[in-house]
Amino acid sequence: MGISRRPLLQSDRIRIREIDDTEDALVASWRSDPLVYSGFIEFAPASARTQHDFMANVRAGDARSVWMIEAIEGSQAIPVGNVGIMGIDRRNRRCEFGPIFIGEHSYRGRGLALEAERLVLDYCFLHLGMHRVYAYVTEPNAAVVAFHEKAGFRRETALREHIFMDGRFWDLIVLSLLEDEHVPFS
Ligand SMILES: CC(C)(COP(=O)(O)OP(=O)(O)OC[C@H]1O[C@@H](n2cnc3c(N)ncnc32)[C@H](O)[C@@H]1OP(=O)(O)O)[C@@H](O)C(=O)NCCC(=O)NCCS
Repeated sequence: MGISRRPLLQSDRIRIREIDDTEDALVASWRSDPLVYSGFIEFAPASARTQHDFMANVRAGDARSVWMIEAIEGSQAIPVGNVGIMGIDRRNRRCEFGPIFIGEHSYRGRGLALEAERLVLDYCFLHLGMHRVYAYVTEPNAAVVAFHEKAGFRRETALREHIFMDGRFWDLIVLSLLEDEHVPFS
């Protein structure tokens, strides 16, 4: 896919843009991959239809955004994953970061997800005027805490046995980043 649609956020290596309706099946296939959904708090198998309904709900409200991450390769922009924010609370100036995933396996481990996270944090603090951005990480996915910490998040607490997955309860780790702690990326 050539570079055509105007991105929301951009660096030398990635673009973050709106998701097209034509991409429902692609995103559904990523969200149905155990290497992706194993990091989610809630998982229901995704189809193009459920992805379409999900995005329609996102667009109908103003508390959540989900975007496409594209890897820039020469004149090409390759869709590789999604990043988003939710629970946008404009009075308290806070939102939850997530989800973030790289669905195209060959694009993992290249630093693109970290770059996407840092661009979206800039958007939260410098454009939306957020004061606090928080993130949840499930106990089985605790390794991802280190990933968020690279973007500036600090581990805040753990909600004990807060989620039920795979037949047992797990802690939910809470991370946060405040506006005066954020180091702009762009
Ligand atoms: C989390 C995820 C987006 C990271 O993608 P990625 O392409 O591996 O990440 P990056 O290449 O940008 O990694 C950037 C840095 O974070 C580190 N990192 C990434 N994932 C990590 C993990 N699971 N544990 C520890 N460190 C990790 C990398 O080592 C790298 O550090 P370095 O620069 O010092 O080498 C990817 O593993 C994924 O899609 N996971 C499934 C979905 C998920 O769990 N999302 C989070 C909750 S919604």
